[in-house]
Formats: sequence, C-alpha cells, structure tokens
Amino acid sequence: MRIPKISYVNGRYVPYTQASIGIEDRGNVFSDGAYEGIALINGKLLDLNEHFERLQYSLNILSIKSPMKFPVMKIIINELARRNKVTDGFVYLQISRGNAMRNHQFPNPAPNASLIITIHDPRKPSAKLLENGINVVTHPDLRMKRRDAKTISLLPNIQAKQYAIENEATESWLFEENGKITEGSASNAFIIDDIDTIITHPENQSILGGITRMKILQLARKNSINVREEAFSTEDIKSAKEAFASSTTMRIMPVTKIDGEPVNDGKVGKITKQLIALYDNYIREQT
Ligand code: PDD
Repeated sequence: MRIPKISYVNGRYVPYTQASIGIEDRGNVFSDGAYEGIALINGKLLDLNEHFERLQYSLNILSIKSPMKFPVMKIIINELARRNKVTDGFVYLQISRGNAMRNHQFPNPAPNASLIITIHDPRKPSAKLLENGINVVTHPDLRMKRRDAKTISLLPNIQAKQYAIENEATESWLFEENGKITEGSASNAFIIDDIDTIITHPENQSILGGITRMKILQLARKNSINVREEAFSTEDIKSAKEAFASSTTMRIMPVTKIDGEPVNDGKVGKITKQLIALYDNYIREQT
C-alpha cells in the first residue's frame, strides 16, 4: 500500500509524514472521538450524505460539536483528493474532542474538536476472495453497549480481527452471551435461510448501522428479495444456505466457511451473487 502524500489536520493540508496532533488530544488519550470511512470512486464520494448523517449521529452520542459544517468538510475532502492526485481511494475522517490536559470529564470550556482526514489507496475486495468467499470465525462480542456510535474506541474490534487472522479467517463474527451474532469486527453480518430470506441483526444500539448494509437491504427489497431484520444465532449459521458480510471496504463479501465448517456446499450462493451484481450496478450509477 502506498503512503498518502498529503493529509488534512485541523485546518491545514500537511505532508502525511509530517502530520501530527497534540499528544494530549482526547482521541489519543481516551479514544474520545468518532470516525467515518468513505469510498472515493471515480472522483465521487459514495453515499457521502449518509456518512455525514451517521457522523452527526455518533457526535451527538459523544456530545462533540463538529469543528465545521459538513458542506465545508466535503470541499476539504475533494481538495485533499485533488492534492493527492487521486480519484479513487478510501477516505478516513476522524473527529475527536480535541486537545486538553488529561482529565476524564469533558474539558470545560470545550476545546475545538480535532479533525483529521487521510486518503488511502482504494480498498476493494479481491477477485479471488469474491469468487471463493471468505472464512469467518466466531468470537465473543466484548464491545461497549453503544455500538451504534462509530467511535474510534476499537480495541475489542481489533482483537477480534486479529483472532480471525490468527485462525485462517478474514473476519470474526461477534456473538453475545445469548449466542446471537451482532455483526463482524469491521463489517455487518448476514445469513440467508432455506426459503431465500436475508437475515441480519436489526439496527439498534447493539450494532453499527452500516451504510453498505442499509443500501443492500434497500436493493433487496426493491428486487423482491425477502429481508428479516432479526438476530440470528451461532446455531442458525449451521443451517444457513448462504452467508455474507458487508462494509465500505469489503462491499458484499461472500462467506463460505464459518468456524471451519462450510456454509451449505461451501460455494458462493445464488442470492449473494445477485446482491453483488445489484450493488455493483448501484455503485456504477452513483459514481
Ligand atoms: N468498518 N460494523 C462495524 C463494526 C464496522 O467497523 C463497519 C465498517 C461496518 C460497516 O459499515 P459501512 O458499511 O458503513 O462501512 C459495520 C469500516 C470500513 C472500518 O472500520 O474501516
């Protein structure tokens, strides 16, 4: 992966290798912030309004005031793409509560929130993974209970992801004490039952409301594919006909093995393929 040329940090475009933030920034000291990951495709920011809406939602939960209005942020992201000479990439945008001497409570008066934006190389699923599907392992969901906020506090997520990597898998699906799967460490989780209904955890405080998830469910309903927003269990996985994961970076990723057991015949399923085609088409229309 190439190193980005220029990043945006608190009002300035700076060379990536020299970009820095205060050592007591609350993001650094407390993970006290929120973030978004947005796909830049053909010079267009995919589902930007939905990402901004979710960012505002996360900031509201954290009681952080955005350092600027979103239309200005859009101009900055586009300018950053221009300065990096890229039309395709993965935009990482982070807002933290800002720089203040370390004390747990919110600093009073509130400092200006810190804003960091970086554009990485595009993250697209490889053709090989799309053809064969990925392996998933299940792992306890050890996260805080407000998972609907996209906070930078990701320690349980990175531990679960690392567990997957160390166990010949690409993603971990997280389960609660009652055995229900919430979502993946960095993606939403779906199974398809024997009557071709897509089943995925409802959007509530237990999961991050993925933008890709939202678009997939809209496309499915528009194309008369049944959807049930209901938590499924580790037990339900065993009888699933198909399974897949979704995120900005994975898009729709077939899941063909879970905890070492093939999903159905271990091949990418029919509905999953149909959804991938529908979503590819959606991206083409939008970009
Ligand atoms: N992850 N659930 C979790 C816990 C996530 O971290 C993500 C995204 C998703 C999918 O959301 P969306 O479809 O809006 O990308 C679900 C991003 C890609 C990341 O952390 O890099």
